[in-house]
Amino acid sequence: MDYNLIKLIHVIVVLLFLVIYLIKTILLVANKTSGLATFTKVVKVPEMIISTLFLVTGIYMLTQIGASKLLIIKIILVLLSIPIAIIGFKKKNKILAVLSLLMIIMSYGLAEMNKKNIEKQTVDSDVSNVNDPNYDIKKHGESVYIAYCQSCHGTGGTNGAGGADLTISQMNMKTMTEQVKNGSSTMAGFKDVLNEQEVNAVVVYVLTLKK
Ligand code: HEC
Repeated sequence: MDYNLIKLIHVIVVLLFLVIYLIKTILLVANKTSGLATFTKVVKVPEMIISTLFLVTGIYMLTQIGASKLLIIKIILVLLSIPIAIIGFKKKNKILAVLSLLMIIMSYGLAEMNKKNIEKQTVDSDVSNVNDPNYDIKKHGESVYIAYCQSCHGTGGTNGAGGADLTISQMNMKTMTEQVKNGSSTMAGFKDVLNEQEVNAVVVYVLTLKK
């Protein structure tokens, strides 16, 4: 199965999950008890499908990108929010219902937090000069990597703080170029700070890290 397709399904499912949750919480907080009962009944089956997909795609992604500290905190938040939500809705406890919703939103926010503004770094001009007859795209890529990527992805692509393990990435030149330029749910895109040559170089370098 294609990782990007699974991820897309995961993101859609998470959004649907959040929408259902938000509507339920609003109905509960607004004391619309019969409305809540009707809505809960209507979404019962879709919700079961959504939760299953949420879990299955999430686990698949976890096996592919490895668990970073941030991801573990996210997972704990989501897992904790489930029993809190169940109790909250069963006992019609507004505080618990809102709390569980906040926990889910927070875990989403944690992912966004990782996308801090990227500052332009200086890359050694000895390796970045394409007109130099000794220009080596991998060396150039490595210095771009050290300047921009290593903080999250770690030395040599493994066990960084919060980034995916790049040595097991299944991406190819094209999809990885996309990822670096546009980012993803938890990684900022670099198209405004890196030029085409730098993007190419860093992708060529990262592809050499594959086990
Ligand atoms: C602020 C932290 C951070 C920085 C800086 C960062 N990344 Fe990432 N990167 C992540 C996270 C988190 C993921 C997992 C995201 C996901 O799957 O949506 C990721 C995923 C990736 C992936 C996808 C791996 C896969 O197979 O799913 C690639 C490739 C990648 N990063 C390359 C880079 C490169 C190249 C740079 C530097 C130009 C970089 N990253 C900088 C956090 C970062």
